[in-house]
Amino acid sequence: MKAVTIGADGRTRLRDVDEPVLDTADGVLVRMLEVGVCGTDAGICSGDDGSPPDGADFLVPGHEGLGEVMEVGSDVSDLAAGDLVVPTVRRPCPHDDCRACRSGNQDFCMTGDYTERGIRRAHGFGAELVVEKESYLCRVPSALRDVAVLTEPQSIAEKGLRQYLAIQRRLPWLRHAGPAELLDGCRAVVLGGGPVGLLGCMLLRLYDVPTIVYSRSAPPTEEADLADAVGAQYVSSEESDFEEVVERLGGVDLVYEATGASALMFEVMPHLSANAVFIATGVPEAGGEEEIAADDVMRQLVMKNQVLCGTVNASRGDFGRAIDSLSGMLERWPDAIRGLITHRHGPESFCDSAGSRDGLKHVILPGGQG
Ligand code: BGC
Repeated sequence: MKAVTIGADGRTRLRDVDEPVLDTADGVLVRMLEVGVCGTDAGICSGDDGSPPDGADFLVPGHEGLGEVMEVGSDVSDLAAGDLVVPTVRRPCPHDDCRACRSGNQDFCMTGDYTERGIRRAHGFGAELVVEKESYLCRVPSALRDVAVLTEPQSIAEKGLRQYLAIQRRLPWLRHAGPAELLDGCRAVVLGGGPVGLLGCMLLRLYDVPTIVYSRSAPPTEEADLADAVGAQYVSSEESDFEEVVERLGGVDLVYEATGASALMFEVMPHLSANAVFIATGVPEAGGEEEIAADDVMRQLVMKNQVLCGTVNASRGDFGRAIDSLSGMLERWPDAIRGLITHRHGPESFCDSAGSRDGLKHVILPGGQG
């Protein structure tokens, strides 16, 4: 079968590799339909990120997958041939004392010895066929066929929101509150107008949270139109500074960051309201140096009971919530959510798509059908 491969020499090739074998009772053979590409893939393609499985001299990239079940092992009870599925990304580390991995919460792995399909020491989904355990696959309703490849990036937003809700339950009057009450009165800013930012924006808008997307490009742009379509505002950092964002919202209680631009993160932080939470999802390149107003940031953080929270990866529960949210988005804003996927290419374009600045989400079709 054909698979996208990134060699130790950094060369990306579409090559013939052995088909995976369904040889365990809890295994599922999946034909990959679509694979999304993102900034992490750009890092893998340029050799700055990613590593092949132990003993292999190439990595099959691709961690945002959507596939169709072809065949199931004898112990598989909840999936059948023809079902649409999305795989989760991270697999647990082997250490007995990692309470996170041992309890099925490898997105909080404590040892760093986890693997991630398509990223770190495990092949990904940029192949015609993959085999995966049933417990790492999430069934997707067929009505979501054309947007379900967004489940993985949406799971990042779901985990981010879950962090916000958990953090705000620290406030004694919200200790037992559900999401609607916790988000009542919340004013949110999304940093970054890429797919992860826009999905976070759409999630907040599902709860009717007043939201501003603060991103670089000046409108008219696809991201500004999309923000507008879901009832958010779009503000360009080329045209306005962050004070204007604060003024427009009357205060900022939640920042959902999806840029990886640390200078911007620290520029924003001193302007947040009391008890605000900053959720950071973007991964800055290592080794950069930025000048920051450390005293202002820390003074505000302490004096206003603020929280800065990093979040990476997502749990199976987050994938389930992502699927529910995508259904809600498809109902409320069908054109906007479909419009987020701007390009579909053959698998040979994996790295070109990952590096492309054109449009929003690029998706490859591992079977080559276009
Ligand atoms: C993926 C996460 C992964 C992270 C770090 C992101 O692009 O969405 O699942 O944990 O990269 O490897």
